[in-house]
Amino acid sequence: MHDQSDNKFYITTPIYYVTARPHLGTLYSTLLADVLARWHRLKGIKTFFLTGTDEHGQKIAQAAEKAGKQPKEFVDSFIDSYQKMWAEYELAYDRFIRTTDSYHVKAVQDWITHLLNKGDIYKSFYEGWYCTSCETFVTEKDAEHTTASSGPKCPTCGRETHIISEEAYFFKLSAYQDRLLKLYADNPDFIIPKERAHEVINFVHSGLKDLSISRTTITWGIPFPGDTKHVTYVWADALNNYITAVGYGQPERKKEFAQWWPADVHVLGKDIIRFHAVYWPAFLMASDLPLPKHLLVHGWIRVDQQKMSKSSGNAVDPQALYDTYGAEPVRYYLMRQMAITHDGDFSIEDLEQRISSDLANDLGNLLNRMSSLAHKHGLIDVPPVAVWEQAALDLRDECWSMLEEVEDYMSDFLVHMALARAWKFINTTNAYFHAQEPWKLAHSNPALFAQVISATCHSLRAIASVLWPVMPRKMEELLTSINAPLNQEYDTLENLELGTWDTYFMIHHIPPLFKKPEPKEPQESKMVEKTSEQANHITIDDFTKVELLVGTIEQCEVVPQSEKLYKLQVNFGDKGMRQILSGVRASFSVDDLVHKQGVFVFNLKPRMMLGMPSEGMMLFANGADGAPKLVTVAVHVPNGTRLK
Ligand code: MSP
Repeated sequence: MHDQSDNKFYITTPIYYVTARPHLGTLYSTLLADVLARWHRLKGIKTFFLTGTDEHGQKIAQAAEKAGKQPKEFVDSFIDSYQKMWAEYELAYDRFIRTTDSYHVKAVQDWITHLLNKGDIYKSFYEGWYCTSCETFVTEKDAEHTTASSGPKCPTCGRETHIISEEAYFFKLSAYQDRLLKLYADNPDFIIPKERAHEVINFVHSGLKDLSISRTTITWGIPFPGDTKHVTYVWADALNNYITAVGYGQPERKKEFAQWWPADVHVLGKDIIRFHAVYWPAFLMASDLPLPKHLLVHGWIRVDQQKMSKSSGNAVDPQALYDTYGAEPVRYYLMRQMAITHDGDFSIEDLEQRISSDLANDLGNLLNRMSSLAHKHGLIDVPPVAVWEQAALDLRDECWSMLEEVEDYMSDFLVHMALARAWKFINTTNAYFHAQEPWKLAHSNPALFAQVISATCHSLRAIASVLWPVMPRKMEELLTSINAPLNQEYDTLENLELGTWDTYFMIHHIPPLFKKPEPKEPQESKMVEKTSEQANHITIDDFTKVELLVGTIEQCEVVPQSEKLYKLQVNFGDKGMRQILSGVRASFSVDDLVHKQGVFVFNLKPRMMLGMPSEGMMLFANGADGAPKLVTVAVHVPNGTRLK
């Protein structure tokens, strides 16, 4: 499906929000891109693989504030863990872009200026329901059933939204509706898999409104050129990474830009399809730039039938997986288990099963049996075979059809299918080896024995080559052990398909390629970060660390800059008065709270909220209606009384 006539391949991953260390979902997107990049390198195609981090916007600013850090200092603190983990998992990217890199910032500003001058960006006024978590306004259609007091839930993440009204710059998205529809109609392979295109086409059909691309309510972002009250909306900043990373807007990198752009494939998860399939092509059309050839949209990794994410508390820690199993078995499992087109379930049991049966038994043992037998009978140099027996010729034909079919699957980006096909051939080779009974031939017919070893080496060479993008280090070990190293100067695959079976092998016996995981207690608990329900018990010492005190709310004031916050003055008796901010305005009036006794976490680290200190936290219990209810004591007790 993918056209490689220009003999270059430019592939990207989404750039990740850096609010925490990488998780298995972000590893998956990056791994998929790495495997496809390596596949193209194997075919001798010049390849550029881009990944990086998305560092601006309200989500990051809020996370930084929570951590008591400046946003830049906060994001800097995660970069090492990304780069270290990507190195451990052998993700061979060519560039790691950070949206705080100065070349990116400047190029985005130039891009905006260009579109302002063209009239594709203009200034106006925006009011709408906004999801802070997704940094996006809820569309009118999604907000249809909204009453004035309660906003619609965010259609993407399901969280609450709130009204924002602000002066904003707009991108003339509405002007591109017809061109976008034409793009989808003319390029049925633009969105892969095709089924995912329907929701995009329906969305565009239902009418596009201009897109607000600046914010005045936040400061952590790229300053809008010529209007410093505004910062650039995080998606208008982030999507442009795909062009700025290869030189857009940087005159000294003009050649590089011409060489790589347009991207061949943007890899992304299904949750961010709208940004990539609607906004991004429209931005590019407005900039008179060619469009990416494909969006490869993968599903979610699920744990216990839910999308795996930090916020659901079921995130699998890729570091723990790496420490236990090593990079390559995990790479193989993720690529084999997850059908790109669907969501897939992660489980340690399946992972261990795949390592034992596919890697250690089917593949590892094949190499091991062949090389130990050859060594046992003094066969180290394996010369080319003059006349092949029929069984070997059949195996060779199978090998060639495997190469062709794997190639077809890979050019459709169906890595899991390619792996399944390669495994079918591994099993064919195992069956051939077994049926030939080479341990008997070693005595009765040494020439035929050498032929069986040679045929097995030829098969292993083809297998290791097609598996190299998924398990590069192990497959290099395998190829070295039969003295057939990869040469990436030419199209390795074509060479294997067209070449006759006439290679001279030399066999070095190496330790088993893959170790079977030892039967032990279930690992799941170690790998999966616990949800609150599964949390470990705490000791009494842990509990006594938390000072829970009763206090009386003497004053309660509205915080005008916020829709949610009250500023409380709380009397803790001998322990004094404290100012505590609490976001419960939607559920309580001032009178509901004033003069009431409540329960407070007294020794919580003080923090600044909207420039005001908050020195503690008031406790509430969510009622059946989901709204917070006051937590108090049944009879009045002296202020400052500690709960124990
Ligand atoms: N910063 C934006 C992307 C901007 S691209 C110009 C963003 N970042 S993210 O960190 O939230 O997510 C990045 C990618 O990780 C998405 O493609 C998302 O689908 C993927 N994954 C996050 N959780 C995932 C799973 N549980 N499973 C598979 N991939 C998932 O969105």
